[in-house]
Amino acid sequence: MHSVYIHIPFCSHICSYCDFTKLLHLEPFVEEYLENLQKEILENYDGERLKTLYIGGGTPSCLTRKERIKLFQILENFIREPDCEYTIECNPKDITEDFLDDIVEAGVNRVSIGIESFDEDNLKVLERKADFKDIENKLEMLRMRGIDNINLDLMYALPNEKLNVLKNDLKKFLKLKPAHISTYSLMIEDHTKLANQNTEYISSELDAKMFETITSKLKKSGYVHYEVSNFALPGFESKHNLNYWNNGEYYGFGLGASGFKAGFRYTNTANLREYNQGNYRKENQMMSYKDMMDNELMLGLRKLKGINVDEFYEKYGENIQDVFPKIDEYLKNGNLIYKKGYLSIPEDKIYVMNEILVNIM
Ligand SMILES: C[S@@+](CC[C@H](N)C(=O)[O-])C[C@H]1O[C@@H](n2cnc3c(N)ncnc32)[C@H](O)[C@@H]1O
Ligand code: SF4
Repeated sequence: MHSVYIHIPFCSHICSYCDFTKLLHLEPFVEEYLENLQKEILENYDGERLKTLYIGGGTPSCLTRKERIKLFQILENFIREPDCEYTIECNPKDITEDFLDDIVEAGVNRVSIGIESFDEDNLKVLERKADFKDIENKLEMLRMRGIDNINLDLMYALPNEKLNVLKNDLKKFLKLKPAHISTYSLMIEDHTKLANQNTEYISSELDAKMFETITSKLKKSGYVHYEVSNFALPGFESKHNLNYWNNGEYYGFGLGASGFKAGFRYTNTANLREYNQGNYRKENQMMSYKDMMDNELMLGLRKLKGINVDEFYEKYGENIQDVFPKIDEYLKNGNLIYKKGYLSIPEDKIYVMNEILVNIM
């Protein structure tokens, strides 16, 4: 248990596509929420030294200064390793000198910013704003404070989006020189505004072409394609996310958060009233031996590096090929490769990863 995820469910605006656990930022709710977050942490945290701490949302940066200071006081309950990767998600408009003072003082050393696109039509669909000049300034402000480990989120495959629009977005993202880029093909989730408007997906051919364009452009610019949708300059791979993909345990605290502790995968309630009554957990499921091995495969093959076969044996006392006999067939037909002790999906097949996984399992 070396990783902690903290969910801050408040946003100053609700986007058309969003299916996360979130609600509008209203001050009376936040105070009570933070009190319960503190209680949940104190009741469950066992004092491990953390390698990663991640504040996600919602939009954690939309808290008022008073709320933010309270949040960081609560998070002082955690013991962090000196090189702990400490991330906060934020909206560029919230990056002010006060905000920087507080996050630097708290020890945050990584910032993740949801930009999504710079294209006016895309931004209209998403109901978001993004101004290149402003974001360039905000990144400069972060770097002046010593925060170089910056992730930018990019969304693509939006309704009516053409390949050229994506190429322009990629150019602008690269001009900003972030250490990390997370890419997301639009998912039209039930009950979101986009779904209610009967928005349709772009063709799967164009989606695949966009994925290929992202991969080749980012790799040419020096980014390592280390997970299906994630790219980093060497050394800036997200330690927090790698822990998920390595099937490592982690705490999840806050509304709707999920965690994995002592062999149990749990999910917290997404109902604020219930959460504020101290009924944090909604589901708590013990992972069977088979569940653990399935997860190891599903999560591990998301990484381009793949799964270390010896480590799998050490962990489970079984050869991965014996547990999933289809692996041999997939090695023969090229849907899987084995290199330097790692079993992986080749990069040109990673786009159809889900099909491969379903068949193996
Ligand atoms: C945890 S969210 C929160 C980020 C932050 N709240 C914001 O909006 O800036 C992280 C990222 O998931 C992606 N995302 C959210 N909903 C999505 C959807 N329906 N389809 C594809 N990507 C999505 C976006 O790129 C978003 O920035
Ligand atoms: S996408 Fe981010 S900012 Fe928009 S509603 Fe969802 S969590 Fe809030």
